[in-house]
Amino acid sequence: MENQQKLIHTFGALAEIGSEIAQKQNFQQMMRTSLHLLLGSLAIMRGGIARFSRFGHELNMIVVRGLGDEFPLSMNLCDEDERQFLTNGSFPIEVAQAKVLPFFQIYDQSFDKKKIELLVPLVVRDEIVGVILLGEKANGAGYSAYDKEIVGAMARHIGVGIAQRNLLAELERRAAENRQLYDNLRMTYQDTVKAFAAAIDCKDKYTEGHSVRVGKYSEIIARELGWGENETEGAAVAGYLHDVGKLTVERNIINSPMRINAKESAELNKHPAVGYEILMPIHHPFADVPLAAKYHHERLDGRGYPDGLIDREIPYIAKIVNLADSFDAMTTDRPYKRRRPANEVVEDLQRNAGRQFSPELVTAFFKGMLKELTGETKEKRFRRLLGRDYMEAEGIVPMLKNALNGLDGTSSLTLISLD
Ligand SMILES: [Fe+2]
Ligand SMILES: [Fe+2]
Repeated sequence: MENQQKLIHTFGALAEIGSEIAQKQNFQQMMRTSLHLLLGSLAIMRGGIARFSRFGHELNMIVVRGLGDEFPLSMNLCDEDERQFLTNGSFPIEVAQAKVLPFFQIYDQSFDKKKIELLVPLVVRDEIVGVILLGEKANGAGYSAYDKEIVGAMARHIGVGIAQRNLLAELERRAAENRQLYDNLRMTYQDTVKAFAAAIDCKDKYTEGHSVRVGKYSEIIARELGWGENETEGAAVAGYLHDVGKLTVERNIINSPMRINAKESAELNKHPAVGYEILMPIHHPFADVPLAAKYHHERLDGRGYPDGLIDREIPYIAKIVNLADSFDAMTTDRPYKRRRPANEVVEDLQRNAGRQFSPELVTAFFKGMLKELTGETKEKRFRRLLGRDYMEAEGIVPMLKNALNGLDGTSSLTLISLD
């Protein structure tokens, strides 16, 4: 009868340890509860659970009960100890009979003082994950074979708990490592893109910094469209690389101080297709970068090149880059013409919305400009690229507001007040 009671009690404790370990709560708490249940189920006076560190070849106590301050919190294992523990598996070892092992010789005094009777190696999938140390039983009797079986069963549960924790820590470490690798890779990609843009811009002495600015304007448009971080970065990359095909166009055509003739113009007009060929084999994180290069000179009305596509046939990214590209062409000095004043540029974009440019993109661009000019945003993206005086010219703000009210893509519900 008494044995049956004991059996029910210990199985209850075992089940509790199992469920304790299945719940992925605080590891320390889990170990504390497990030790408490183990000691309680057999009325053991004191004990502790240690975790094995493969790197330091040491056992570090994670929870102790009744072992006092002097008991070592960290203990070393030598190769021989590790080999023996592994062969033994998760079965209780009688400390009194294991004195031949270096481990028991080194820590003999500490074990003796606290009357440590059993040591259970915790072995999971052929690896030591820790040990359990157990003092004497409250009734002074030695551990029976039956007791040892119970201790062994509970120890296996506890071992699995520690192994799980190790696995989780390893996974977290690898995830962090992967994140780091990914971030590095991404930075390398961004740097490469910028280096390419600088190389493209180098070739064209009259439009210095053109690719970089188109990248920045494309980014502004994407951001105003409410695109996410990745998509916005993709738009910037498309802008940075849109003229990459110019690398194969002869320098004197690009740098011609006069308007170029038809033949030269035909040569120059190959740059979108060449850009596409250059960018296509590269594995971009943003799939439509090559398309932006190929179609950045197309117009909504079909009068662009190379393919004369119309509105719905033009990739969205190419429409963005086209607007950014045209804006930069109008707002920078060329050898044969000076840049146009801001009010003319705004007028041009407004007039050509629906013909060359997508009206919703012009809307987004104007909104970005307006936000900066009215102080709604502290960023100085336009002012930095175009100069403060240029952007703050008289009458630009009401012009932009007017234009926004007239453009498609701005519903009557979002009418902007003109005060
Ligand atoms: Fe171009
Ligand atoms: Fe361009």
